[in-house]
Amino acid sequence: MPEHPPLEAAWTRLATLAARPAARDIKALFAADPERARRFSASFEDLTFDFSKNAIDGDTLVALLDLAHEADLDGFRARLFAGEVVNPTEGRAAMHMALRSAADAGMRAALPGGVDEASRLAAAERDKMHDFVRKVHAGELRGATGETFDTVLNIGIGGSDLGPRMAVDALTLARGPRMEARFLSNVDGHAFAALARAMNPARTLVLVASKTFTTLETMTNAKAARAWLAAALGEEAVSAHFGALSTNLKAVADFGIRPDQVFGFRDWVGGRYSVWSPIGLPVALAAGWEPFQAMLDGGAAMDRHFLQTPFAQNLPVLLALVGVWNINALDLRTHCVLAYDERLRRFPAYLQQLEMESNGKSTALDGNPVAQATCPVLFGEPGTDAQHSFMQLVHQGTQPVPVDFILAAEPDHDRPEAHRILAANAFAQAEALLRGKSRQEVEAEMRAKGMSDATIAGVAPHRVFSGNRPSNTLLFRRLDGYALGRLIALYEHKVAVEGWLWQIDSFDQWGVELGKVLAGGIIPALAPGAAAGVHDGSTAGLIRRFRTLRGET
Ligand code: F6P
Repeated sequence: MPEHPPLEAAWTRLATLAARPAARDIKALFAADPERARRFSASFEDLTFDFSKNAIDGDTLVALLDLAHEADLDGFRARLFAGEVVNPTEGRAAMHMALRSAADAGMRAALPGGVDEASRLAAAERDKMHDFVRKVHAGELRGATGETFDTVLNIGIGGSDLGPRMAVDALTLARGPRMEARFLSNVDGHAFAALARAMNPARTLVLVASKTFTTLETMTNAKAARAWLAAALGEEAVSAHFGALSTNLKAVADFGIRPDQVFGFRDWVGGRYSVWSPIGLPVALAAGWEPFQAMLDGGAAMDRHFLQTPFAQNLPVLLALVGVWNINALDLRTHCVLAYDERLRRFPAYLQQLEMESNGKSTALDGNPVAQATCPVLFGEPGTDAQHSFMQLVHQGTQPVPVDFILAAEPDHDRPEAHRILAANAFAQAEALLRGKSRQEVEAEMRAKGMSDATIAGVAPHRVFSGNRPSNTLLFRRLDGYALGRLIALYEHKVAVEGWLWQIDSFDQWGVELGKVLAGGIIPALAPGAAAGVHDGSTAGLIRRFRTLRGET
């Protein structure tokens, strides 16, 4: 890995700009510059990114772009796309872009053992997936009883679940699926019980999706599904109904999945970046190959935009810079994503892993504590639902919460009025966050309604909105596979850019390990009569209480 350039001066410049008395007065920025919305927006194709409702002025933007240049973003981006090891703590490249590139793109992933033709390999596996999808849809591949498959059950967790689950919703909710997709992630047996009730084993294709093929939850659920299928159709039926999506082909073979239903990828695909890989197979099965291919094309288009566009118009770079401004200069440590689109209802959950597993780090690449705060806590729900739950806090809570509003201009249904109402709400929320409502306005309004002075004095302060609360808006024509791919890749690159600015490894996830190891030690301790093991007092007490409550002391 190259040396990280010193960024103290760049961060200090941002802190100085943030300390100016009027630094957070976004309304004043609009009042001073009629061209502000245009100057603080950027577009790629039909996708507009409006970041004008942030406390960013011309000087701030220059300082943020300087930070990007001084952090050698150019160099990191080039090394990412060249397939160099950008994940040094795991010694891996991050070449998910090869999965959406053309076969002849010539992308390479420099692996510890040599150099690989990433885009060619990815395209070959894509062809195998395409053929499989065609055969399932055509009824050429059937279950053991001769019935066609009408359901795909994806068993996976984290990146082997969140991406495909989100994309299936996005691409099938409006028009219905080619085949039903179900997702089993949680090891909680209630999840499988609920799914098993709703599925017909004779018509169910089970895909075990696990990059490592060792994840406890997934392997536990895969065994449960196999037992369920064997109980219904007989042990010999299992092979026709099971497929696997993994990098660990040996473990897949040991599980007994037939090779023609195994789809592989390499360790240069991180779990949270794997929806483009065979992990996306349930998307292609549920939505159809064309929307899936369009999603890959949209991702590839965003890659080109990210690679070729100057930082000042580069959407992933700008999205990241606005993020670090809010987090590091203004000290806003939460982030809300509101897609005004029911089809994107799983998008915040997907982003939670992408952003927080990637950038939820406190150690810099050089092994020292990070110099800056890193990933904010991210949450979200679809609009307008969110307005009737947590938006109270976003409007009037003690700390501003930067919001990303996401909206398609054209719906995929035939009720234009409903879509206008939806869109009006998205715009109104962002406007309300910016504009706020002063004490004088509130009092005048209450007086006009004939309220008494006593009521006004008591209630008016509670009806005041400070305004000047930051938000971004991402607006595009319609949500199809292409637009979805573009949106996902936009956030992927945003996360990478932020990681480079914070000088952390965005592609590892060591923080998930400790809990896994400790669970491995506690599982046997929960069995009747087992020794509790050595734990802190609270954990030991809870283990004892758990067993008592189950009558298993
Ligand atoms: O626990 C976190 C994690 O390692 C994620 O990074 C990953 O997406 C998920 O588990 C599932 O891993 P696998 O695909 O190997 O089962």
